[in-house]
Amino acid sequence: MTEARVVAGIDGSPMAEAAIRWAATEAASRGTGLSLVHAFVWPEFPVPLGGNDLAPGLRAGADKVVRESVELARKLEPTIEVEGTRVDGFPSPVLLRASKHAEVVVIGSRGLGIALGALAGSTGLDLAANAHCPVVVVRSGLTPATGSRVVVGYDGSPASALALDFGLDYARRHHLRLRVVAAQPLHTEHDRVSAQALEADVRSREGGQDAELIHIDGHPAEQLLRMAADAQLIVLGSRGRGGFAGMLLGSVSQTVLHHAACPVAVIPAGMIGG
Ligand SMILES: Nc1ncnc2c1ncn2[C@@H]1O[C@H](COP(=O)(O)OP(=O)(O)OP(=O)(O)O)[C@@H](O)[C@H]1O
Ligand SMILES: [Mg+2]
Repeated sequence: MTEARVVAGIDGSPMAEAAIRWAATEAASRGTGLSLVHAFVWPEFPVPLGGNDLAPGLRAGADKVVRESVELARKLEPTIEVEGTRVDGFPSPVLLRASKHAEVVVIGSRGLGIALGALAGSTGLDLAANAHCPVVVVRSGLTPATGSRVVVGYDGSPASALALDFGLDYARRHHLRLRVVAAQPLHTEHDRVSAQALEADVRSREGGQDAELIHIDGHPAEQLLRMAADAQLIVLGSRGRGGFAGMLLGSVSQTVLHHAACPVAVIPAGMIGG
């Protein structure tokens, strides 16, 4: 399967099942194939697995995860082409490589109350920052596809402009309303976007004429989460206009990923060379 596709990271957990569900629906909507990738970490540990009795069992277990995941995806979306592969390596680099040939990469996350480092077994942070395509983080335990709109966080940065494009496309394909939120942080002139600039950027894009624009004072992450209470998807850049070059994710995207009640699509700043 070399043409455009949706990639989902799988590990046999309920989190991965939620990711498979989201990814299968998305592949059907995009008219692409679905590629399920299981990163098999054991060969990466400095324990000589090769010759001992454990290795075949572990590999067989990994192959079973792949097989069952493929079965689930085929059951959910019988019309799409589904492939599953076991790749030796840690999830983050394995999925980063897969993102080169993907339209979108989907991963599961553990949800509330878990340190961000543990997001999708620490796959999330690195991947969301460095992938070659948008990364969607899906939490287990969510009812799939509830919520009536797509919410985009807009701060005028190049990554948030790509988030706008992704949100417009997703909303059109899934027949959802789009809401674009530009929160104006209080007590600072940084990160402010004028209502006119917001309007001009959104309205100039295909489908942007119908979008609902929210230009509002307040803490960006708080306002975004509030405005996304009934969202089906939130779309953000991994970084915005702010400061520290070394950070993988900005403070707004970190907070929203932590607390969102729906899947979150992150546009890696690396996609725009920043
Ligand atoms: N004021 C805002 N209103 C709406 N969305 C925002 C706002 N600020 C950021 N976002 C969204 O969050 C994404 C990530 O931006 P974030 O602010 O987290 O990163 P940063 O600016 O690089 O870092 P920081 O602000 O923590 O210094 C942006 O691409 C945008 O989608
Ligand atoms: Mg910022």
